[in-house]
Amino acid sequence: MLEYFYRKDDQEIFSGRTYELSLMEDHLLSGKPVDVHISGLRRIGKTMLIKEFMKRHMDDESIIHVYINLEEISETPEDFALKFIGWHLYWYYTKGDRLPGPYLHLPSLIFQIPDRELRDALMPVTAELEKAKRDRQRLLEECFSFAGTLARFTGKRVIVFLDEFQEIANLTNFDHMKNILKIFRSIKDRVNHVTYCISGSIISEMENITRDSGSPLFNQFSHIPIKPYTRDESGELVYKLVPHIDNRLMGLFYHYSAGNPFYLVQILRKTLLFLGRQEVLSDMLIKRAFISEVLSPEGLIHSYCTYLYSVSLQRARGYGVLKSLLDTVATNDTSMTQSELARALKMSQGPIRINLKELQDIGLLFEREQRYHYCDPVLRYWVAYVQNGVEVADFPQEKDLRSIIEELDKKYQRASEELGRMKEESIMIMMKQFSGQEMDGALFGLAKGIILPAFTKLEQYVSKDGKTEIDILATTKTGKWAVEVKWKGKAAGIKEIERLLKKASPLADTCWYVSKAGFTKEAREFALEQGILISSEKDMRILGDSLQNSMERKY
Ligand SMILES: Nc1ncnc2c1ncn2[C@@H]1O[C@H](COP(=O)(O)OP(=O)(O)OP(=O)(O)O)[C@@H](O)[C@H]1O
Ligand SMILES: [Mg+2]
Repeated sequence: MLEYFYRKDDQEIFSGRTYELSLMEDHLLSGKPVDVHISGLRRIGKTMLIKEFMKRHMDDESIIHVYINLEEISETPEDFALKFIGWHLYWYYTKGDRLPGPYLHLPSLIFQIPDRELRDALMPVTAELEKAKRDRQRLLEECFSFAGTLARFTGKRVIVFLDEFQEIANLTNFDHMKNILKIFRSIKDRVNHVTYCISGSIISEMENITRDSGSPLFNQFSHIPIKPYTRDESGELVYKLVPHIDNRLMGLFYHYSAGNPFYLVQILRKTLLFLGRQEVLSDMLIKRAFISEVLSPEGLIHSYCTYLYSVSLQRARGYGVLKSLLDTVATNDTSMTQSELARALKMSQGPIRINLKELQDIGLLFEREQRYHYCDPVLRYWVAYVQNGVEVADFPQEKDLRSIIEELDKKYQRASEELGRMKEESIMIMMKQFSGQEMDGALFGLAKGIILPAFTKLEQYVSKDGKTEIDILATTKTGKWAVEVKWKGKAAGIKEIERLLKKASPLADTCWYVSKAGFTKEAREFALEQGILISSEKDMRILGDSLQNSMERKY
């Protein structure tokens, strides 16, 4: 099964993501299934997660899994409609064991369908395609309802995975097309026994589709964000490929891959190639493997960064300025503000602001406290060198890399981890590690110790009417925690804590306020009185280190 779809090599190295898989199971396989939106930066492992989920449940006779990558089929509405249906039939008849070619074209598709009823269901589409003037809306309605037809015909539940979902928007460029999302939504409301799992890497576009109150798909999906690997998850993968490595060297792989499984796999494979050349595993070897993967034109990370850089810039407008901004942010030793960037580029602030916003929208930069940082520290490292003409050999010697190695720690900052560590996502990752550890209560503003509960579910909460948002709503065996994260320079006061209490008390029995700059004296007293947990940046750092230590003891 899945022979063609999910390579054996990939199946063997699949690691981590236990929590995300269990969330998918909860949502997609429950008696009352919920549609799911999987989001995450490029190459973070969204598609592989879907493949693994399908593999684990392929034997379930009550379900038909259909996977469609919309990037591959969004050329014209006609082509889209036919291939969309073709993929449904491919998955139903082959379960991913054959090449899909014959299912994606006419007339070969017709010959692949032994069941008359399904062949008949294809008729309205083929008839429409034969017309000189095609009704494109009709075509799309037909193709979106096909999952329902399949469910009815088989008596089974159909789970449709739509990868790179944001590409659907490409179809709206064509004449006579009503809003395609509206069509999708109306069919989705009508069909029975079909559940959708959509996924996409262009986060801003996916958010416009699922989070914008004007979108027909607003609030239709339960969100599963895919985050960088934790150290634990990285370790699981590292040990599969380098079984006898010590904990410290394992940490280096985690560090240089920035928790990105794709980078991790490439750095590991390069290290194994070096080891095959009779080299000995050491800090220096891992550094050389990282540098050559990123800076040698033969390296796969190098190729990927080249691709990412060019497609991102193609997607955006204003190529030249964007490029200069990216170069300046990458090469400057410290992070920069908008006015510093304007000065460096000798431009006025207005266009710099617009271009910085663009770079944030395409997911390359993020802003924190008015300073701009790369979301991906490996890409930053690549830009800093390669855009300035530096390249290295595929298997460089240590002596050839002396100056690059000397600069490595300064140039390669784990920007996303160091700076973004305390954002909601990283706090969520931290909370995933809670498992009954006893901690100093002072880290939570308490007078006595605290036992950290294990959470069965962690999510960002937005009420149906979109009015109440809770940064993290976490479920334990006995209750819920509502967590508010404020990353501002000013200490939080009583008002802010009261606000959390008011919005969270109908939903949760424990409130936790995390504030970078800590709390006013009154707020601290108020929190203690009301039994609200409070933590500052410093508390979070100590908590993070303690959790790390408790995990390392596990190894
Ligand atoms: N759970 C995992 N275990 C092991 N390797 C993984 C895992 N997830 C991802 N990888 C590695 O990272 C690569 C990229 O993953 P994948 O294609 O799933 O990412 P993606 O988020 O779908 O990327 P894109 O945004 O480009 O579609 C995989 O080919 C694999 O080598
Ligand atoms: Mg993908």
